[in-house]
Amino acid sequence: MQKIEEPAPADTPFAWIGGEAKVRELVDRFYDLMDLEPGYAELRATHGSELATAREKLFMFLCGWLGGPQYYVDKYGHPMLRARHLPFAIGVKERNQWVACMDQAMGEVGVEPQLRERLYDSFMNTADWMRNKNG
Ligand code: HEM
Repeated sequence: MQKIEEPAPADTPFAWIGGEAKVRELVDRFYDLMDLEPGYAELRATHGSELATAREKLFMFLCGWLGGPQYYVDKYGHPMLRARHLPFAIGVKERNQWVACMDQAMGEVGVEPQLRERLYDSFMNTADWMRNKNG
């Protein structure tokens, strides 16, 4: 039987999540958690000592990816995310930690459960496509 989903309450996930301020809050929480939680140590280790550039770039990217302003594309061109991640060794562990860290951040900044569930699936698809090593 076909699953009937509730219609989304906003035109874009960007509007639904609460716009730029909320995307900023989410990205900040994501990188704070990555820095703090021992469970994300392997993910943290793929990054350099400072996270300021990553914070800014992920914020710009997510605004557009969620259907809002295309800050990232305007400044850096096509995201080519898989190619841009090739310098970092990404396997199942790093993928799972990225998605778990993002999911925890979504929970902590209060992303609505229905949106959180949808975004979880999209983040998992995107993160899975970034894998570039076995294991
Ligand atoms: C799967 C596990 C992932 C790992 C281990 C990872 C790791 C990294 C690292 C180390 C950087 C460089 C940060 C810096 O420049 O300081 C980066 C950049 C970036 N990541 Fe990821 N990432 C992952 C998944 C994702 C996902 C799922 C997204 C989007 C939904 C994403 C979006 C970005 C963006 C937009 C950049 C900036 C790219 C650039 O312009 O250089 N990443 N990532």
